[in-house]
Amino acid sequence: MKKLAILGSTGSIGTSTLSICESFPDRYQPIALAAGQNVDVAFAQCQRWRPQVISIATEQLAAQLEQRLKTEGITGIEVVYGTAGTVHVATLPEVDFVVSAIVGVAGLEATYAAVQAGKTIGLANKECLVAAGELIIAAAQQNNVALLPIDSEHNAVHQCMRGGQAREVQQVWLTASGGPFRNTPLADFEHITPAQALKHPTWVMGQRITIDSATMMNKGFEVIEACRLFSLPPSQVRVTIHPQSTVHSMVEFIDGSILAQISVTDMRLPILYALAYPERVDATPAPGLKFDLATLSQLDFSAPDLNRFPCLRLAYEAAATGGNACIALNAADEIAVAAFLEGRIPFLGIPRTIEQVLSETPAGHPSSINEVLDADLAARATARNLIASQLAGVR
Ligand SMILES: NC(=O)c1ccc[n+]([C@@H]2O[C@H](COP(=O)([O-])OP(=O)(O)OC[C@H]3O[C@@H](n4cnc5c(N)ncnc54)[C@H](OP(=O)(O)O)[C@@H]3O)[C@@H](O)[C@H]2O)c1
Repeated sequence: MKKLAILGSTGSIGTSTLSICESFPDRYQPIALAAGQNVDVAFAQCQRWRPQVISIATEQLAAQLEQRLKTEGITGIEVVYGTAGTVHVATLPEVDFVVSAIVGVAGLEATYAAVQAGKTIGLANKECLVAAGELIIAAAQQNNVALLPIDSEHNAVHQCMRGGQAREVQQVWLTASGGPFRNTPLADFEHITPAQALKHPTWVMGQRITIDSATMMNKGFEVIEACRLFSLPPSQVRVTIHPQSTVHSMVEFIDGSILAQISVTDMRLPILYALAYPERVDATPAPGLKFDLATLSQLDFSAPDLNRFPCLRLAYEAAATGGNACIALNAADEIAVAAFLEGRIPFLGIPRTIEQVLSETPAGHPSSINEVLDADLAARATARNLIASQLAGVR
């Protein structure tokens, strides 16, 4: 029985992980959960799973949750909160495996603490690797910790890498659905609304990652993530548009062979792979994970258009620079996506804001998580000021 901590248990990846626990009760038991603001779902998860400990974003929410548990007569669950709470959940001695699925850098300290505590990590939170990948990878190597990617593309690459040696890899191909605006003319991009951008053609995900998919920044983050997870330079990580989202990614080897991973578009599958690694388990108890090859009639691949998707270009540039550039890329994107969702900036305001923040970011490579968080805060402040001054017509 693997005992799990799930950071971001109330989110899309978190609930998919709990669904896997539901399907494989003899293999996986969630014993520690970390939620953000959603007390209702956190409470329901306490009722269902009776974890040893649950963390929630703030002291006030923790008091609410404790009160509800008390009223229902549910005892024995420690309720903690804030960053210290997520770190407590991630480092609980009884936990074997930590699923890192808090969105944004809010999950960074807990993920880093879990690595230092020697836990095996199922990594969904891509912002952690983008902002602090250099430190997290170094800590994982030092502590002999396995970082198992849950992001479907990196999970696919991880699977394909088992077909050869690292030195035999020519390049990695990350597939991208192209998002909802794959065929939209550039002239129409300025008028894209949040409602349009939130309709992803193939995946159902949280809001930030859905907008990042529409701008292709998500793919840019994945390029950086792949460079870090598989020790590759950006030139060896390529992106191809594959609208069917059936091939989740590929590895091309030096002899010309390309290994691809094909499966249903369901995050439970990469989660199950990471949880079971190095084994593979029969997915029958989790209905819907088997792929029907007879439904496969067409596989299209094409090059991304960097003019229509400047976020991807910006991510390649940041990947080449590393350090503060990657931190600023993620921080500015988070602020710009929130401003777009609030209707404060247009769709193309997202890459414009990020490019400006990157140009104002001093070069440098943080040597601690605190320095990463400081650089993150500085980039956020720059992004907020830029957006405010644009709205005020100053720039
Ligand atoms: N969804 C996917 O298919 C997918 C695929 C690949 C990678 N990812 C990555 O996985 C991560 C999670 O994505 P998602 O789609 O699951 O996002 P989501 O549905 O928005 O869920 C985010 C989770 O983070 C929690 N959270 C937010 N701020 C927090 C804080 N300050 N402290 C503690 N918890 C906090 C949320 O809690 P509340 O809801 O309680 O506020 C929620 O549980 C992201 O990094 C994303 O890029 C997702």
